[in-house]
Amino acid sequence: MKAIEIRNKYLNFFKAHGHKIIPSAPLIPENDPSVLFTTAGMQPLVPYLLGEKHPEGTRITDYQKCLRTNDIDEVGDNRHLTFFEMLGNWSLGDYFKDEAIAMSYEFLTKELHIDPNKLSVTCFAGDEDAPKDMVAANAWKRAGIPEDRIYFYGKSDNWWIAGEEGPCGPDTEMFLDTGKSACGPDCQPSCGCGKYVEIWNNVFMEYYKSKDGSITKLKQQNVDTGLGLERMTMLLQGKETPFDTELFLPVMEKLKELAKVEYIESRRIVAEHLRASMMIIADGGRPSNIDRGYVLRRLIRRMTRHLNKLQINLDELGGLVDLYVETLKELYPELIDKKEVIKETILEEKDKFVKTLANGEREFEKVSKKAKQENKNTIEAYDIFKLYETYGFPPEITADLAKEQGFEIDLTGFEKLFKEHQEKSRMGSEQKFKGGLAEQNEQTIKYHTATHLLNAALKVVVNKDIHQKGSNITTERMRFDFSCDHKLTDEEKQKVEDLVNEWIKQDLPVTIQTMKKEDAVKSGAECMFIEKYPDDVTVYTIGDVSKEICGGPHVKHTGELGHFKIKKEEASSAGVRRIKAVLE
Ligand code: ALA
Repeated sequence: MKAIEIRNKYLNFFKAHGHKIIPSAPLIPENDPSVLFTTAGMQPLVPYLLGEKHPEGTRITDYQKCLRTNDIDEVGDNRHLTFFEMLGNWSLGDYFKDEAIAMSYEFLTKELHIDPNKLSVTCFAGDEDAPKDMVAANAWKRAGIPEDRIYFYGKSDNWWIAGEEGPCGPDTEMFLDTGKSACGPDCQPSCGCGKYVEIWNNVFMEYYKSKDGSITKLKQQNVDTGLGLERMTMLLQGKETPFDTELFLPVMEKLKELAKVEYIESRRIVAEHLRASMMIIADGGRPSNIDRGYVLRRLIRRMTRHLNKLQINLDELGGLVDLYVETLKELYPELIDKKEVIKETILEEKDKFVKTLANGEREFEKVSKKAKQENKNTIEAYDIFKLYETYGFPPEITADLAKEQGFEIDLTGFEKLFKEHQEKSRMGSEQKFKGGLAEQNEQTIKYHTATHLLNAALKVVVNKDIHQKGSNITTERMRFDFSCDHKLTDEEKQKVEDLVNEWIKQDLPVTIQTMKKEDAVKSGAECMFIEKYPDDVTVYTIGDVSKEICGGPHVKHTGELGHFKIKKEEASSAGVRRIKAVLE
């Protein structure tokens, strides 16, 4: 059975049992900045689980696009996915355990024709928050599951909540026996050896967990179920991995044809990350350095690296996007309309990363060679940090490379260095801008780098003795005050603007070094309030056009800035001029 047939069968089955079909909510939650992506079908339905009336009634069925990134590093094995689809049926204060379990059993055995002898189930064992779930167990017995295939586990297996706080409750999970041999005499659904595969989860949401950890009863008893479409498709087709189903197969085969080397893991990573990136972009996501945008950036970067590893020409990416749209358009018709923006976004991001990747990989080779010479089996935090700071090389890619070459990697140490650096940067910016840089986000960081370029361009075009006198940045614009004894002519303004844009176009690397204050000054680094800086300072260098003592943060490459435009040039005070400019 194909995935689309499974989805349709599911929705129609529950429709026949009084449910209204609702379409998938977007992958990027609407009006909910607290989570990055929809990770389960319940998220868009939380208000209704809490008691609000759903316009479609109390019985709902849906297919929900989900993205989970906690296992992103595992992608490449035979089962992990970041993007997946979850089929669900919902009781919003309507039916409860008995009816939910009876319907699950009927759907699995009568609609999907799964052999009941291959089914096992697990129920909640009970603790101080909720009793042993005999109601669920008895419902399974009535449905036809013998007692010796009903298992009871504690909270870690049979309790469901999204995150730390929210609607939750005991669940009952269904497992399919794959027929593989048992890992031992005690082999059971919870052991994870691969004999038993979880296929469906029914959560009985009648509790709410608050931030303080306390658990109270909800106004109503709900049912939230989740059946993973990719996994069910794989199992029903008797395939070993989801990559062998029609959802991935055309792309996997194309990758095999294009690749000059045989790395099945890399092919899976490319196929998985490309599909996830496409789905995120189709729902409005764009790459950036924070939150959601960074997840997307990470997916595209990792995919790019593995395309390189497979020795596939990166120009093939556009064609792979086309192929995926063809492959998935029946399930996700939104991909058809969004094809061009998906392509543009992925190709642009790939282009940005290619140079960083090449430089970073080269530097990593030096680091790993040195570690080998010194008989070390760990890539140290300092080296990860240096690769990150100096070459913009993402730590997760360093981790990937390290793993491939059999090194351990001190990511915890890196996190510590990173936090220390952020703290320093924060203090530095506070000093430099005296609160002018109130918030640091992607846009303000870009403007921050643009001030350095503007400072340097003014020196080249107007007068080498020009110095910065102040700066103020918002997400909409930058304001830059500088020493100058005359109003800039139109020609000067144009030349300054052109030069900044030229440097942006050259995509100059922005690098950082820590040094003693005196050394920084000696090296010719520009600074504004020398006496205010601590003894150790950070110096940001942009290609060979600018060098300034500064707390950062900055973009990694000037190409990220976009187009620079001077909006206004005016007097600020005696001997000080002011430029207002924007990045478009
Ligand atoms: N919300 C449940 C899950 O994600 C169904 O497993």
